[in-house]
Amino acid sequence: MSLFRLDASIRVEGSRSRQIADIVEQEWLAERPGETIVRHHLGTEPVPATAWGSAVSAAYLPEDEHTPDQQAAIALATSYVDELVEADALLFAVPLYNFGVSQHFKTWVDLMITDPRLAAGVEPAIAGKPTVLVTVRGGMYAAGTPREGWDHATSWMHRILSDVWKLDVSVVEQEFTLVGVNPALDQFKEMAAELAQKAEHTAREHGRTLAGTAVPQAA
Ligand SMILES: Cc1cc2nc3c(=O)[nH]c(=O)nc-3n(C[C@H](O)[C@H](O)[C@H](O)COP(=O)(O)O)c2cc1C
Repeated sequence: MSLFRLDASIRVEGSRSRQIADIVEQEWLAERPGETIVRHHLGTEPVPATAWGSAVSAAYLPEDEHTPDQQAAIALATSYVDELVEADALLFAVPLYNFGVSQHFKTWVDLMITDPRLAAGVEPAIAGKPTVLVTVRGGMYAAGTPREGWDHATSWMHRILSDVWKLDVSVVEQEFTLVGVNPALDQFKEMAAELAQKAEHTAREHGRTLAGTAVPQAA
């Protein structure tokens, strides 16, 4: 058994998405002691921004005419997709940045989709794999709040992971991670603490789901 974990936070210290993903990982590992974890720290070691364009343009040329950049981009996409195909479970930790998806995660997804095994419209080679998406947001986007509808990342990530790649996705979310950092949000401290606790509980639950050992909850 093996777990593939991708972190897209640009921070290492104090990253809440990493902390929550650590909980998921620990639960998985508790059920699968000694098993392999393959990690990608996309936020601190991003995919080269030119790789996607090179891989896309290569598709319009015969293989023996590919430039060294195109060859390198295809090799990178192949190796990244291999990692997902070889893993038994997947864990993604991706924060909200500037009301949209992390550019590092988008660049990685775009490159992955150049590989015929994960292209839109084909039966994905990773369909059905148990997957946890951890996502955190500094603010609050619930229905009725001033920023309702401003989160343009979560639904897109869901579309790619669940609908394009047909993964079996469970989501752990936490909002208001900027409470305690931004003094303007101090009035929400109690709510933020509750949200943090709830996210940790869900992370433990989904960690067990990922390992395939969760006890189904009664309806
Ligand atoms: C450059 C930058 C842009 C951000 N943009 C948003 C945003 O648009 N909306 C939001 O709710 N939080 C935003 N945040 C806050 C992050 O979502 C929040 O700090 C989150 O906890 C970051 O993930 P991490 O804790 O794993 O590093 C932003 C943070 C940074 C550094």
